[in-house]
Amino acid sequence: MAYNLLKGKKGIIFGALNEQSIAWKVAQRCHAEGAEIVLTNSPLALRMGELNNLAKECDAPVIGADVTSNDDIENLYAKTKEHFGGGVDFILHSIGMSVNVRKNIPYYQNNYEFTHKGFDISALSLHRVLQIALKQDMINEWGSVVALTYIAAQRVFPDYNDMADNKAVLESIARNFGYYYGTQKKVRINTVSQSPTRTTAGSGVKGFDGFINYAEKMSPLGNANADQCADYVVTLFSDLTKMVTMQNLFHDGGFSFTGVTGAVIEQMEK
Ligand SMILES: NC(=O)c1ccc[n+]([C@@H]2O[C@H](COP(=O)([O-])OP(=O)(O)OC[C@H]3O[C@@H](n4cnc5c(N)ncnc54)[C@H](O)[C@@H]3O)[C@@H](O)[C@H]2O)c1
Repeated sequence: MAYNLLKGKKGIIFGALNEQSIAWKVAQRCHAEGAEIVLTNSPLALRMGELNNLAKECDAPVIGADVTSNDDIENLYAKTKEHFGGGVDFILHSIGMSVNVRKNIPYYQNNYEFTHKGFDISALSLHRVLQIALKQDMINEWGSVVALTYIAAQRVFPDYNDMADNKAVLESIARNFGYYYGTQKKVRINTVSQSPTRTTAGSGVKGFDGFINYAEKMSPLGNANADQCADYVVTLFSDLTKMVTMQNLFHDGGFSFTGVTGAVIEQMEK
């Protein structure tokens, strides 16, 4: 069901790779709620071609940008301004990648070249996206930026590897930039800390199946899926949440505040 929550709003969605992607679901929901969007992803992701299906469905242009490149982001914003005839009201940052995770290198043996690359893509990119947006006055007053994160930023989840550090910095950038963008332009910036979700990035984490089942058992409401995440993100882009900023918001069925559940105790007693 749609509520026209984003009627008249314009936005940029980073990170839709395929139908499983959280950003894919957010794009569909934004479109259904009346927003106009621009889709962007890395040149490598664009070559896979799946994004074109989403672009057709949402009547959205696709503009490639590697988030580690200032030039690419400047070009993305310039073309988006041309397309909309002005700035945007919301941005979704739904990007993550760790070479150490991909290559199965444990945290205590991390290769720092890989660490730097993952940090640049997964964390520093939020700063880059915001810094260039501020410089080009890309986000309209009372605009909203959401970046996706995971609770391994606060607690240890061994196989999440260096992505835990990346997410800790990502959340810190959202808070700190939230101060400056808030005072200068009334733009709000939040992170949404999502349940484990079956996507390309998610499934890359070692032991993901056991992990997602554990989270399901440890969450009073069960794991939140990507569609539910999209619903939540839409509310954060809407005018109903104008005074929420610099927060890390858990969207995890209660996992983050649960010590233990009956289901887990039962399992341990077996
Ligand atoms: N899946 C989960 O369990 C889960 C849980 C919590 C948070 N998250 C976060 O959600 C976000 C989206 O991930 P997802 O699970 O939808 O997986 P996904 O693999 O569909 O999305 C990750 C995206 O990052 C993009 N990307 C990688 N390198 C890039 C670059 N250099 N420039 C531009 N884009 C680049 C990929 O192309 C891809 O679209 C990530 O921040 C992830 O950490 C995921």
